[in-house]
Amino acid sequence: MSKTIQSVRGMNDLLPEQVAQWQWVEAAIRDVTASYGYREIRTPIVERSELFYRSIGEETDIVEKEMYTFADRNGDSLTLRPEATASCVRAAIHSGLVHNRSERLWYLGPMFRHERPQKGRYRQFHQFGIEAQGWNGPDVDAEVILLGDRLWKQLGLDDVQLEINTLGSSRSRASYREALQAFLIGHRQDLDENSQRRLESNPLRVLDSKDPQTQVILQNAPDLMSYLAPPEIDNFQRLVELLDAGGVTLKINNRLVRGLDYYTGPVFEWVTDRLGAQNAICAGGRYDGLFAELGGRDVPAAGFACGMERLLELVVQGGLDFKAKVADVWLVLLSADAESAGFTLAESLRDRGLRAICNCGGGSISQQLRRADRSDARFAAVIGEEELRDSHVTIKPLRDRGSQVRIAREDVAEYLLSNREA
Ligand code: HAM
Repeated sequence: MSKTIQSVRGMNDLLPEQVAQWQWVEAAIRDVTASYGYREIRTPIVERSELFYRSIGEETDIVEKEMYTFADRNGDSLTLRPEATASCVRAAIHSGLVHNRSERLWYLGPMFRHERPQKGRYRQFHQFGIEAQGWNGPDVDAEVILLGDRLWKQLGLDDVQLEINTLGSSRSRASYREALQAFLIGHRQDLDENSQRRLESNPLRVLDSKDPQTQVILQNAPDLMSYLAPPEIDNFQRLVELLDAGGVTLKINNRLVRGLDYYTGPVFEWVTDRLGAQNAICAGGRYDGLFAELGGRDVPAAGFACGMERLLELVVQGGLDFKAKVADVWLVLLSADAESAGFTLAESLRDRGLRAICNCGGGSISQQLRRADRSDARFAAVIGEEELRDSHVTIKPLRDRGSQVRIAREDVAEYLLSNREA
């Protein structure tokens, strides 16, 4: 026997039972995005690598270490998308989506990062995200955050917390970066290894360090807020007020910096303590420079992306409140003629919107009824010699106590429809 082939490490199958759970969450996403006027966009999974070098930034973990980049047969450098914000901006520039107008977009799909797999961290994972393109904020920044909050509530999650910060414009951030770097250089020897490396390339990311000794040093680091221009501070305060008006509780976390370079202004994360180390289920912020960086006009924008695997883990842990759709009927077919009659009947049931499964692979009546019982179908409909003779069907309830009935074939659809659960 030849060896079995395993899936790629960090890339998982979603089996039918999980897909039913995902679809339930996806339905909530469709509902919530529609209620805020967001429209779905679908962009390719593969993009030119340059798109991510220029947007996420060359000195980020994602671009330095995590991208699936390859040369195609023409020698072009392509990358499996590690995120979709850059793609949404590229698509909007290319198709003129935000030409003289604004656009609210949402997306859902697989992303790829070559990270070390662990619970909640995968190499293929899925993001649901939204991008509001063409508004300055802080009103739309608040809207973006409120949309997330509404989704968590709709999914029955009441223990995700919002942390927000503001990174200011690129100008204020540049002067802060200088001050922070000067401070950190004074403590170089005591910083963790990763932070020492980031000190030169991306000192703001040192604020993210989880190393206890680095965290002690950071307690005396310069504060970003004192480098912001007054309008930036006003905008941030207005955002906090609007979130308050929308009923969202938040924590201001001045250490919150993001792992992607395109952010300007407010940034945020939704975190939970139910998921261990991978505690962020959703993250985002404002990225006003990205359109220009990718060759478009200056278009302000903000958005977020939510990790679907983490969201699903939370929803499932909390006890899912949904019923997977089950078949209405399993047809037990006891001869070749019964099979023909059953196939005709099943098609007519499906025409009426019923879910019908025909027994395939033959078998005795008890074998077929056992299969019917193992499926989640609500009724079995038996066609044997007797039923064939007088165009009847014997219907057996599989889930409820009710008794078996014999009814004419043309009445089966009505019977099943009137016995359907609400
Ligand atoms: P991000 O913080 O890189 O931001 O990812 C957003 C979310 O995706 C994370 O909070 C996490 O839930 C999920 N995630 C990221 N990496 C993995 C992984 N390896 N396995 C499982 N889940 C993961 C972005 O991607 C930005 N594009 C967000 C954004 C949209 N900003 C503005 N608009």
